[in-house]
Amino acid sequence: MILELKQVKTHIGQFRILQDITFAVPEGKVTVILGRNGAGKTTTLRSIMGLTPPTEGEILLDGKRIEGLPPHVIARKGVGFVPEDQAVFSALTVNENLRLAMRGRDQSAEERLTFVLDVFPDLKEKLSRKGGGLSGGQKQMLAIGRALVRDNRVLLVDEPSKGLAPIMVEKLARALRVIKDQTTVVLVEQNFALASAVGERYVIIDDGHTVREGILCELEQDRELLRRYLGISPANGERGRAG
Ligand SMILES: Nc1ncnc2c1ncn2[C@@H]1O[C@H](COP(=O)(O)OP(=O)(O)O)[C@@H](O)[C@H]1O
Ligand SMILES: [Mg+2]
Repeated sequence: MILELKQVKTHIGQFRILQDITFAVPEGKVTVILGRNGAGKTTTLRSIMGLTPPTEGEILLDGKRIEGLPPHVIARKGVGFVPEDQAVFSALTVNENLRLAMRGRDQSAEERLTFVLDVFPDLKEKLSRKGGGLSGGQKQMLAIGRALVRDNRVLLVDEPSKGLAPIMVEKLARALRVIKDQTTVVLVEQNFALASAVGERYVIIDDGHTVREGILCELEQDRELLRRYLGISPANGERGRAG
């Protein structure tokens, strides 16, 4: 297991947000974190990154504890994080955004840049375009690309499909299927169609607890679980976005 969370509890201010998050992420696979709005998915990723450090519990990267370390140290150990808000530098070009992420890296960063541009041909066409001039989907690709040019062992990606047009979601799914051959991915995703298209394992979080983890294709058959924790009617396979 490349990453393990054991009974992680996280407070934000006086609020107990995560109460018992326990799951394991196998190397070289996409693990999807599912759960309704407010369940604690983002806080789980932020806890792994040290942005909201756990107050109790253990987080292990390659068997070594990382909880309590500052975010930049966790990043340096090879954990990449693509937050929900498609963070790219608006005033810099696509090329500059990627080069900045590569700064101080070895020769293999150039190879990873080539890989990123192969995975996201949209970015290749727009290398000299300013980040601020990209569509939402292109910004998301750039944000993921910036994480990929670093030699990350694990990539945490928070709801990449949020607000994207269906064609962009399709491109993203295609890219994620290629990316998982290079790096282990932990994907928070409410779009169940995308989740099941790219994911191998799942973890369901509800009210700050992990309620189930397992193999994603088995979850697809479990209508009761889908309905109960995700509000999905499997007839259309897609979660409603209300709320
Ligand atoms: N900075 C914060 N201050 C107070 N409560 C927060 C903060 N961030 C998140 N929460 C609360 O923690 C819970 C989990 O949030 P979050 O991890 O963002 O859920 P998800 O990503 O699953 O939608 C929610 O009830 C949310 O309101
Ligand atoms: Mg969230």
